[in-house]
Amino acid sequence: MLTQAPRGTRDMLPQDAYLWHMLEAKMRELAALWGYREIRTPIFEHTELFLRGVGGTTDIVTKEMYTFKDKGDRSITLRPEGTAGAVRAFLEGRLYAEPLPSKVYYLAAPIFRYENPQAGRLREHHQFGMECFGGKEPTVEAELINLLMTLLSSLGLTGLTVHINSIGCKCCRPRYGEALRAYLGDRLNDMCEDCRTRFDKNPLRILDCKQEKCKAIVKDAPSILDSLCDDCKAHFEKLQGLLTAQGIPFAVDPTIVRGLDYYTRTVFEVIMQTGREGLALCGGGRYDNLVEELGGPETPAAGFGLGLERILLELRNRNLTPPAPAAADVYVANIGAESLTDAFVFTQKLRAQGVRSESDLCGRSLKAQFKYADKLGVKYIVLVGGEELERGTVKLRDLSTREETEYPLSEAPALIAGLIGKEA
Ligand code: HAM
Repeated sequence: MLTQAPRGTRDMLPQDAYLWHMLEAKMRELAALWGYREIRTPIFEHTELFLRGVGGTTDIVTKEMYTFKDKGDRSITLRPEGTAGAVRAFLEGRLYAEPLPSKVYYLAAPIFRYENPQAGRLREHHQFGMECFGGKEPTVEAELINLLMTLLSSLGLTGLTVHINSIGCKCCRPRYGEALRAYLGDRLNDMCEDCRTRFDKNPLRILDCKQEKCKAIVKDAPSILDSLCDDCKAHFEKLQGLLTAQGIPFAVDPTIVRGLDYYTRTVFEVIMQTGREGLALCGGGRYDNLVEELGGPETPAAGFGLGLERILLELRNRNLTPPAPAAADVYVANIGAESLTDAFVFTQKLRAQGVRSESDLCGRSLKAQFKYADKLGVKYIVLVGGEELERGTVKLRDLSTREETEYPLSEAPALIAGLIGKEA
């Protein structure tokens, strides 16, 4: 117990940190290019926010939330997704009073869902999410999808298709609900208990059921695209035109309804194949009513969330993870215990010059220090001690050429910094 993390959680170990940093750096870079600013919201919120925001009939709210009473008897929930908190912050921080659209992103935000853990499905995962408030045009979704696909291909994840759908609006969705009920009516007895409940409360949720018997029935259900009103249809067509104009491959997929209730019109996912089941790398869409439903002014909005663990899984599956960089560029070896202090001080001088350097912290012999330096993967070893130190010099050994050069002690840090800078 004591040495085991809770089920469905994963440590980010030091040897993996560089991959997370690489992802985060790419995401920050693209977010800045696309004009999105960072937002950080609390890991927990009032439970009510998710009940109202995500939807009381969704699996996330009914089965997966980590909810508890705090010491003040308030019901608190660890965030099961990022959008509701972003909307709350948009309202509380009065971002709606600034020129719109207001474009925000969150980076590696921890998300908690009590799910059945398996590859790519965790109880704590991390999302890179983007939300755009105040834009009603499909250019919003087109720009989000463009950024998303640019990000994925910059990581080497090519050949992925974005699946898009429209689930209509307040006007046309009820019409579809009726068509769906008419189709499912006499098949209901063959469906799971959850779907029987969904039938009355929220029939669209049935399209998202993961049970094989329900999936088989839903396969031939009427398409929501046949029930769209003229405005929703025009919006969806415009989006497709914009994606085509940008050269972004997409597939219209009427089975995508998403597991959250706030969506209107556009929904989209990028799916990767893992074993039998497809897993979404990313999901998002438009949510034109959510800001208002949470007490704000009428504000159309759209966004997406990208699971970082799934991205890493896909990068590993495709052998696309770059090798880990060396932990240091230079190892400063003391020739014996008597030169330990000089080596230690020299290391600090190198660091002051911006050179990533290490020296002995474990009382190792010279031979053991060389072995350790080799494991670190450094390019250079600086030898401190012996006759050289008496002469006021140190020796720099280039490990790739085995060449050795002697430098005056006082000038060596700057010279070595120059040498490494030149190679970078
Ligand atoms: P979501 O589809 O529930 O959407 O999650 C977004 C992404 O998070 C998924 O595509 C997946 O990569 C990752 N993810 C979800 N659940 C897990 C899990 N249990 N383990 C590992 N990764 C997971 C949302 O959360 C929406 N808030 C996205 C959004 C933002 N829509 C509009 N704005």
